[in-house]
Order: sequence, then C-alpha cells, then structure tokens
Amino acid sequence: NVDLSTQIAGVALDSYIMNASGPKCTNLEELTVIGESNSAAIMTKSCTIAPREGNPLPRYQDLPLGSIQSMGLPNLGYKAYLEMIPALKQHGKPVVVSISGFSVEDNIEMVSAFQQSDVDLIEVNFSCPNIVGKAQVAYDFEQTEKSLAAITALGDKPIGIKLAPYFDMSHFIAMANILKRYPVKFITCINSIGNTLVIDPITEQPIIKPKGGFGGLCGEYIKPIGLANVRAFRQLLDDDIQIIGVGGISNGVDAFEYLLAGADAVQVATCFEKQGPNCFQRIEAELALFMANKGYDCLADAKGRLKPL
Ligand code: DOR
Repeated sequence: NVDLSTQIAGVALDSYIMNASGPKCTNLEELTVIGESNSAAIMTKSCTIAPREGNPLPRYQDLPLGSIQSMGLPNLGYKAYLEMIPALKQHGKPVVVSISGFSVEDNIEMVSAFQQSDVDLIEVNFSCPNIVGKAQVAYDFEQTEKSLAAITALGDKPIGIKLAPYFDMSHFIAMANILKRYPVKFITCINSIGNTLVIDPITEQPIIKPKGGFGGLCGEYIKPIGLANVRAFRQLLDDDIQIIGVGGISNGVDAFEYLLAGADAVQVATCFEKQGPNCFQRIEAELALFMANKGYDCLADAKGRLKPL
C-alpha cells in the first residue's frame, strides 16, 4: 500500500489529489460534493470583492482533449465564502480559498478577511486570463512584486500564488527571484493557457462568445506545459516554497509525472468537470497502483526525481 499523504505549508493532506479552483466549486452545493468526495481538500472558486455573473454564454466548450473557457470569474463574492467556511470545515479536510482581486487593494481586503477566518490555506490567483481590460498579474513582474509585498504582510496563514504558464527561461528565473523575496509558502502551476482561439470551420465562428472567442485552454493539451512549469520552478526555488501541479491530470500516471517534476500535491479541473467527483478516488487508486508496481512506498520516494536522459 503506497502512502499518498502529503502536506502543503504544514497543512496535512490525506492524499495527493484535490480539486482545482475552477469548475464546480462556486456554491455551497458544489463545494459539499467536493467535501464528500476523495479530494484531499476543498478548494473554492476564485472570488472577487463583489458577486459576479461572469462572462456571456457560451463561455465553456469541451474539446476532444480538454476544454476552452472564458468564464470571467463568476462567483458569490468573498463574503459568501467567508460565511461558508464553518460548514465546509465539517468535512474534516483542509479548506483552501482562492481569491482573485482586480487590484492590490482588493487582494489586501480579501486576504485580511480570510486571515481572520478558519480557512487553512489562501491561494491568490495572479493569472486569470478572462477579464476584459485586466492583464494577468503573473505576466507583469512589477505588479507581482507590489502585490506580494502587500498580501504577505497581513497575517500568518500560509499564502500561495496561482501562476500563469511561462514559456521562456528568463521568465521562470525572474518570477522565481521575486517569489524568493517574500514569505510565499506555495505556488500553483499552472492556470489555463490564456487567450487561445478555437474555430468552428462549419459555422465559421469561434466556439465561445466572450472576447471574440479568445479563452483559456485547459485539459490534456496543456500537460507538457504544466509539467515544464512545475519542473522549472522546482529547480529554481528553495525547498521552503512548495509546488502544487495542475494542468491536464486525468489519470494516475499523469499525477505521477507531476510528482517526478517535483509537485507536492496536484489539482484536477477539466477531468473533474467532465467526469464528476469520482475522478479523485480513481486517480488516487491509479497513482497508488502505478507506484506500487514500481516498488515505491510513498510520494517522497519519487518526488522531484526525474531521471536525466
Ligand atoms: O482559466 C481561468 N478561468 N482561470 C482563472 O483564473 C479564472 C477562470 C475564469 O473564471 O474565467
């Protein structure tokens, strides 16, 4: 029996696999389903100061190997999630809140509020690609540094940052050097690949409505990019910053590849959207079996141990 327990910033997780902030984690009903599933934690939809309807429909479409979406942060507003925390904690697993302010001031207000709450971890989303007129903070290093300085000084609850995918070594290095200057406890890599375009050749239209069809690419398409981001940051950061891997995990072998790249835990979004909450247990069982067949006893046996070719 392979031990899949792990921890993020000292918060114990019974297994390696949890839901990602994204699909089906917006209201209490959806979060209760996650609470009752094998997800190692309950992760909430990224919240904003005020409730939001999100972008116009259609804003989500399945693709053969994933999905494209431009949801536009539909959420109940952070106060609703604050109030839900006691109910969510009843499930006996860690609760992770995701916040996604539109300004440093927004993020200060929300982080301050959750610092006073019973939430276990705070993931600050610097990488939503779907808001018209708002750049992704994670692609603006000056803004990233300013935000990090502000939000890491508000309390002792562990803070992590949800990063955008990077594609250039100089960007990995620049971001790693910024992260090292602040008490960030974990990073979550990666958000969707922003501003991709899928065209329907029959109708001669894009397949989603917001932003003229530009949306975040998700699922199996993006696994090599997620793996590269986890691997690059694992090599550049010190051990005091942990990494949660996300991007294209739909089976136990995908999760194992993220483990080799150096992930301390993984999140599942598109597969959960497509298959529902049983995916957590299935992926967990597949990972345990794959590792058992290789003779591994626990995650640490393989974590970060990608072998040179
Ligand atoms: O791809 C994404 N979609 N990333 C986010 O951070 C937010 C989400 C949305 O609501 O648009």
